[in-house]
Amino acid sequence: PYIREFSSTLVNWYYKEKRDLPWRHTTDPYKIWVSEVMLQQTRVDTVIPYYHRFINKYPTLESLAYAPQEELLKMWEGLGYYSRARNLQTGVREVVEKYNSKVPNNRHDITKLKGVGPYTAGAILSIAYNEPEHAVDGNVMRVLSRVLHIKEDIALPKTKKVFEEAVTQLIFKKDPGSFNQALMDLGAQICTPTSPKCLLCPVREYCLAFQEGKPEELPIKSKK
Ligand code: ADE
Repeated sequence: PYIREFSSTLVNWYYKEKRDLPWRHTTDPYKIWVSEVMLQQTRVDTVIPYYHRFINKYPTLESLAYAPQEELLKMWEGLGYYSRARNLQTGVREVVEKYNSKVPNNRHDITKLKGVGPYTAGAILSIAYNEPEHAVDGNVMRVLSRVLHIKEDIALPKTKKVFEEAVTQLIFKKDPGSFNQALMDLGAQICTPTSPKCLLCPVREYCLAFQEGKPEELPIKSKK
């Protein structure tokens, strides 16, 4: 009952308070893929105009697959980390060739695509396909370390698995995409690295770190 209440409370908050972001008006897996790749190392506010221009220029997976690389890199100018754009195009071409232009709907296949790691896979699967898959990045680890009072060192690569397994138990099965994005929004807006806004937090009554009184002391992160 505790788990179900946490998840439904979080998702209900999201339905009311979610940020109106352009990739939240679609369930096209290609567009979700583009947005998640852009968001990997770039802030939301910066990504928004790039996302609009990019989808305008390449509205379909195939249009990106057949685009000249030079033109693609020009569209990416200012976002940085150009390998992301090249990997995205490689991945998209793999989908055209190996999957009949249909983005795979399972973790096994989608993770084989160039540039699609565990996080991006979970984001696409949950948001576009409603699959109950985890999407754990640093922000989500921070939120979960506090809610569940997990004291594992998030600087260690093996720790991610601890969080992935923990959050899999929590996923709101009726709307996994909203659940995952609710965790992202909570991390961005409320459960911030320093001075978390616990008094505004919709799930503070479920948060073990809040009950302990020191949420800002989590997560534990050894190296810099
Ligand atoms: N950061 C990464 N993915 C995101 C998403 N779908 N919405 C908001 N922020 C994000």
